[in-house]
Amino acid sequence: MTLLGHPLDLRGITLPNRIAMSPMCQYSAGPDGLPHDWHLAHLGARAVGGAGLVIAEATAVLPEGRISPRDTGIWSGAHVDAWRPITAFVAAQGAVPALQLAHAGFKASTYWPFAAERGGVPDADGGWAPVGPGSAPFVPSYRTPRALDEAGITAVIAAFAQAAAYAVDAGFQAVEIHAAHGYLLHEFYSPLTNHRTDGWGGDRPARMRLALAVASAVRDAVGPDVPVLARVSATDWVEGGWDVADTVVLARELAAAGVDLVDCSSGGAAPHADIPIGPGYQAPLAERVRAEAGVPTGAVGLITEPEQAARIVEDGQADLVLLGRELLRDPYWPRRALAKLGGQPHWPDPYARAF
Ligand code: FNR
Repeated sequence: MTLLGHPLDLRGITLPNRIAMSPMCQYSAGPDGLPHDWHLAHLGARAVGGAGLVIAEATAVLPEGRISPRDTGIWSGAHVDAWRPITAFVAAQGAVPALQLAHAGFKASTYWPFAAERGGVPDADGGWAPVGPGSAPFVPSYRTPRALDEAGITAVIAAFAQAAAYAVDAGFQAVEIHAAHGYLLHEFYSPLTNHRTDGWGGDRPARMRLALAVASAVRDAVGPDVPVLARVSATDWVEGGWDVADTVVLARELAAAGVDLVDCSSGGAAPHADIPIGPGYQAPLAERVRAEAGVPTGAVGLITEPEQAARIVEDGQADLVLLGRELLRDPYWPRRALAKLGGQPHWPDPYARAF
């Protein structure tokens, strides 16, 4: 049986295989970021399909941290109650439910991709003023952020910790800190977006400080037994931006702060980055971080073929593969892939006659 189908231990939790569903915003939440039937069906189908780890979409730790007014949230007891049946169903299929904890920073209050409008959402249409490391918008069509002050930064760190505790209470067995894609934590560590001159900007240690403070606070909030993953943008793909050598340093420090696996994505801080998109294009980033920082990694990005996924794990590029769009096309990809690779995945009993 391919290593892809072998269990993976992360702290107190065992993933049944090394295939994860990458977090994907559905832009379908109800008012106030509450998940509902869509999220149950969407995440539940991928658990039935055999993903070992099902990571729910970027879920805001504060209302102003939503990318769009339709994002899910985890900032109150009502969110805990709404997520609970979803995590229970995912776990009942043998998958591990995880939640991506997010703050969109200066990319908040934007229209969702399938809206008729583009760019920042005005107050009149349910938008709000975003926050960021500075007061320049990401692009002219986005809303102008307010630079976080010391009290605002302290509140963000506390909100990530509280959200992590809510996530565990809601039945999530792992959390992922979203520190990628030009959202708040990435905005702070990238030199392209952080021009602060206080203790939260300047040299690399100062720029990494927010991501590391959030990692420590989340680890404290969930206790010693819950896996904490962190998704990073391992490179900005821009000369003079954040790069993979920086990520090796960040990954080591994230691990020291209690992060168990670094999920290596890329990009998002520079609107015009030239990204060499192709099959498995980010796997070499995961490979280098794993080799040089000595921390478990996840590989993501255009992983679509069973043999390709198996090789990434077998060659030691990553400990986990994460699939996004391929799992939207085919929720059963994990079970089909493991069967194709010689395994005998157990299909849910009601489906057994089809296989
Ligand atoms: C995404 N992606 C994403 N990433 C993330 O960290 N949090 C998120 O909530 C989302 N939301 C999201 C929504 C949709 C509809 C798509 C298609 C993508 C990125 C995603 O997790 C993944 O990293 C990329 O899609 C690349 O992997 P694939 O799709 O090539 O397997």
